[in-house]
Amino acid sequence: MCGIIGCSGNFDAVPVLLRGLEKLEYRGYDSAGIAILCENKIQVVKCKGRLANLREKVDEGMFRGCGTGIGHTRWATHGEPSDVNSHPHISRSGMFCVVHNGIIENYSMIRENLIENGYEFVSQTDTEVIAHLIEFNFNGDVVRALQKTVNQLEGSYALGVVYSGTPGKIYSARKDSPLVLGQTASGCYIASDIPAILEYTRDIFIAGDGETACIGRESMEFYNSMGMEIKKIPIHVDWDAGSAEKEGYEHFMLKEIHEEPDAIRRTLANRQFDKMEIGRPGRIHIIACGTAYHAGVVAKYVIEETSGIPVEVSYASEFRYRKSIAGPGDLAIIISQSGETIDTLFAMRKAKEMKSRTLAIVNVVGSSIAREADDVFYTRAGPEIAVASTKAYSTQLAAMFMLAKKLAGNMMRSEELELIPGMIDMVLSQKEKVSRFASELHGGKSIFFIGRGLDYALSMEGSLKLKEISYIHSEAYAGGELKHGTIALIEEGTPVICCMTQPHIFQKMVGNMREVQARGARVLVITTSSFREQAERLTDMVVEIPDVDPLFSPLTAVTPMQLFAYYCAVLKGCDVDKPRNLAKSVTVE
Ligand code: AGP
Repeated sequence: MCGIIGCSGNFDAVPVLLRGLEKLEYRGYDSAGIAILCENKIQVVKCKGRLANLREKVDEGMFRGCGTGIGHTRWATHGEPSDVNSHPHISRSGMFCVVHNGIIENYSMIRENLIENGYEFVSQTDTEVIAHLIEFNFNGDVVRALQKTVNQLEGSYALGVVYSGTPGKIYSARKDSPLVLGQTASGCYIASDIPAILEYTRDIFIAGDGETACIGRESMEFYNSMGMEIKKIPIHVDWDAGSAEKEGYEHFMLKEIHEEPDAIRRTLANRQFDKMEIGRPGRIHIIACGTAYHAGVVAKYVIEETSGIPVEVSYASEFRYRKSIAGPGDLAIIISQSGETIDTLFAMRKAKEMKSRTLAIVNVVGSSIAREADDVFYTRAGPEIAVASTKAYSTQLAAMFMLAKKLAGNMMRSEELELIPGMIDMVLSQKEKVSRFASELHGGKSIFFIGRGLDYALSMEGSLKLKEISYIHSEAYAGGELKHGTIALIEEGTPVICCMTQPHIFQKMVGNMREVQARGARVLVITTSSFREQAERLTDMVVEIPDVDPLFSPLTAVTPMQLFAYYCAVLKGCDVDKPRNLAKSVTVE
């Protein structure tokens, strides 16, 4: 999604803004720009394409000594990627300049009203209306004009604003889209997320919905939605700066897969569930998108198996618009790595309107979903930079196992959970074997994942991982369902990944494996040590995971799937960390 950065201090703003935008690149973007406020003049440089294009256009010498500015990386939602649609956007008089992350849903009406008042528009964006509207509302007090403006906006926004009449000042406002602020001895900063300013400060202010702020070289003022000045307490972020860098791995994704053992240890050490009064809900609704949804499907099997509570798993975008059965006495579990996915945020709000208790399983501290849920459990995966989620998924699973234990009490044994991190390390030691299998199979037109029970739920995630980073078509199928149609697609050489970690249905899966092999499939099996020998008699591609309570095997069996997807993507020369068309946090519907 879009990223915004802003700074005001005793330094040159241009290098600070460009470096901040680099840290935001992973959010996915198609254009970038900056605006520098020099004395009483705003100068904008922006263009379509990657940051390198912007750097070429910026003459840093021009802005020497100018310490205030805002910057933006744009992921197009209104208007195609182009120079003119890039941010920042400037008002009619050139005195106000805005960067924005989010969507203004009533921008057409505002645009029409402004045109009737003599304003002209140069872009197709929703954001441009904000720049003109601030000017339209301005009567000498920028904070008041900004507050009046945002009160007229419907939709989501994180805004950075500069006004040529107040050198050294940056104004911000936030609703639904994330915004953080920081202050150091040399200046103040605003940004869409923490890694963009982490090298300057660990004490981070999280902007709340409806809040505005005015920052200067040495000052920060915060205002609530009523326009009253408020005091805010920063959170202390203990991520080390390196954890947002690659640390020697070729890609963030490979680094983050290797971080899974430590990330799960941190999750298991989190005691937030202990303090939650959850009781025994009559029904559980798990609501999420993408990979987080797949964690929810695994959780469904686990919770129903251990506590017998009925669980319905919904795509957030579906839950929002269909008649839902959620109601009082139900528990709505909201899973989201970023905590900013707009589909999930709005679906949670619907669950709250229906009087369900909401529990958020989130990775980003202080994110919108975390702040609005009745309860929150942080997965503590650390910053996940690669667009394709890996360690966040694993920690979501770990969190759901902990929740299942809280719900099931003595009906569930969970001591083996502590063994999982060490077991993942053992699985990671087989990465060369997985790489070899990827080199044999990555040429497949389609690659199928099949499994039964928990293995089927897990296969959904393996299939998505492969699709989103290697662009190879893939489907996950229940092993017993393939023969009801899709097996027609299996032909000579079709790769099929068989996930076979569940002892009680292992032999059934052997049958399904034989079905596809009889039609020419190349089978790779992921199974446990107990079944390795039997599997090796059936195929020459076997990845072994350590024996563990079958309930917890998704935590170790997912790692080979993630590695398989990673190596296929590398072999195909794909942009592993920033796959085409995708964004790390989808803050548009
Ligand atoms: C993950 O690999 C995907 N890029 C994507 O499906 C993601 O899981 C989904 O957009 C939900 O994001 P969230 O967990 O931040 O809400």
